[in-house]
This record gives sequence, structure tokens and C-alpha cells, in this order.
Amino acid sequence: MSPFRITRTLPEDATGAALREDVRAGLTSVPKTLPPKWFYDARGSELFEEITRLPEYYPTRAEREILADRAGEIAAALPARTLVELGSGSSEKTRLLLDALTGLEAYVPVDVSESALRGAGQALARERQGLRVHALIADFTGRLELPEGLPGPRLVAFLGGTLGNLLPGERAAFLASVRASMAPGDGLLLGTDLVKDEETLVAAYDDARGVTAEFDKNVLRVVNRELGADFDLDRFDHVARWDAEREWIEMRLRARSAATVKIPALDLAVEFAEGEEVRTEVSAKFREEGVRAELAAAGLTAAGWWTDRAGRFALSLSLA
Ligand code: SAH
Ligand code: AVI
Repeated sequence: MSPFRITRTLPEDATGAALREDVRAGLTSVPKTLPPKWFYDARGSELFEEITRLPEYYPTRAEREILADRAGEIAAALPARTLVELGSGSSEKTRLLLDALTGLEAYVPVDVSESALRGAGQALARERQGLRVHALIADFTGRLELPEGLPGPRLVAFLGGTLGNLLPGERAAFLASVRASMAPGDGLLLGTDLVKDEETLVAAYDDARGVTAEFDKNVLRVVNRELGADFDLDRFDHVARWDAEREWIEMRLRARSAATVKIPALDLAVEFAEGEEVRTEVSAKFREEGVRAELAAAGLTAAGWWTDRAGRFALSLSLA
């Protein structure tokens, strides 16, 4: 058994305060929005894992294929002694990287989901002799407070296409902040889902079994539980739409009928018109030139680009 530590880098009520602020701002704006990071309580993290096993949801399988084929090449290009993973979730695909990084001493998974971090971190510490696992409960869009003494070179992994869940301005700020946390010789391994036909994309975000619909509605469960709201989940429908101009999928929740939702913790009543929608997530899809430009704008130098055999998903390596 290797050492496992978990640290909350946010102050005691920071999560609650951030949720209150996000819900107030999002549900009083026009159109209404809620940020996707609030999907991921324990149930939301489990629903996401179920999504990754759906026949329609190709990104996880495509990224796993790339890692299975290329982890050795990635490890040779950046023989990291520390792996920091942002939005690590179950760390399931990460195992392929851990196998390839033979000189790895420390693994630092970073996530807002404490349940996902505990499950994955404890299992890895049990299985991997000699690997120090130090999990951080943190928001990766904030300033990262990494533990002291992590040996370099460091590889920062941001897998799954989660970059696409940030809006363009947020993406630029996020990449600049990741770059600022890196030392010369460190690397960023970034997973990005690629633009493809609308039918495949919409099916991936509106599966036949309705798992993605449950995941989408989970944000309302979180707001009900944490802020005492009275959203009736049965009165909202899940919607997934491809925005061809912005090249992103939008997930929304559409009110079936007019309703007033009370949110006691905010002393707020929110009016919904029949058919009104709340945007709960964007999932941007990328092209190679766009990814390269965003990385270069953040001061990162391209060092590798790999796709799965069907060209659905890409992993890129860039250096500080
Ligand atoms: N990397 C995994 C999980 C992707 S799901 C994979 O590729 O399968 C997205 C993960 O990011 C979830 O575990 C979620 O809890 C986490 N997450 C979302 N927004 C976050 C934020 N702002 N800060 C930290 N973690 C976040
Ligand atoms: C975590 N993220 C990359 C997923 C995505 O595909 O945008 C979240 C998700 N939303 C619906 N299904 C999966």
C-alpha cells in the first residue's frame, strides 16, 4: 500500500458559497444558465461513468484507444516524475499513462468530486507500490495550490475533452493559468473531442437509455438538496443541440410548463415560462488548427498530436 492523502484546498464554505453565487447569477440571467461543474456530486460522478459506457458516447473509448496505442510515445517525450491530472474523475484511462511512466513518483488527481477522488485515489495507492497519491479537492479554474516538493519534470493531464466544457474566454484563462503553473520542461497532455457529423454528436449527448438526461437533471437535484429548492425534475426535459456556428453541443433543460421555483437559501423565486430553457453545459468540439492556436496563445509549444484510428478524438502534448 502506497501513501494516499486527500486535501481540500478550498476554505470550509467556499463550495457552498460558489454554488449560491453561480445559481443566483445563472438563474437570474437571460437566457438562464447553470455551470456544468455542479453536475458532479457522488450521483453525478456515477452517472458520468455510466455515460462513458454507453454505445453512443464514443469519446471515452476513442481516447482510451489513443492512450493504449501511444502512452509509450508520450512517456518517452515527457518522462514525468509527477503526474498532475485535472478533472481526474475515476482515473480509469489514466492507468494506461501510469503504466507507461516508469519513473513516476507522485500522482496528484484534482477534482471537485470528493467521492470520485477517494474511490480512484485509494484504489491506485493500494495497487501501485511506491507511487505517492495526493488527491486535491479543488476547482481547476482557480489558482492551483499544488503540494510542496513534487519532483519534475511534471506532466499535467487534462483528459476526456473537459476543456470543451469551458467557454472560449474561460478556456484561454484556464490554459494561461496552467501554463503559469508549469516549469521549463513540464508538459500538458490535453484531450479534445473533434468536430464531426451532427447525428453522431447529438446521439452522444442524448442517448436512447436516457442516462445523459438523468445526468443533466442531476444539477437540479444538487440545487434542491444544497439550497432547499423545489425543482420538479419531471417537469423538465433534457435537450441536446449542435450549434454549427460555435461548433459546440449545448445541453439544456426545458420547462414543460410555466412554473415558479423557490430557492429558500437564496431567498429567490425563479419564474419559468412554458418551454423556457436553462443551458447546463457546452461541450465544444475542436479542429487541430484551433487547438494548436489556443495552446500557442497560452505560451505552450506543440510536441505531439495523436488521434484514434477513426479520427474522432485527439490527444496533444505541448511543452512549457
Ligand atoms: N477525466 C475523466 C473525467 C471527465 S468528467 C475522464 O476523462 O473520463 C469531468 C470531471 O471533471 C469530473 O470528474 C468532474 O467532477 C470534474 N470537474 C468538472 N468541473 C471541474 C472544476 N471546475 N474543477 C475541478 N474538477 C472539475
Ligand atoms: C466531462 N465532459 C468532457 C463530458 C462531455 O462530453 O462534454 C461531460 C458530458 N456531458 C454529457 N455527457 C458527457
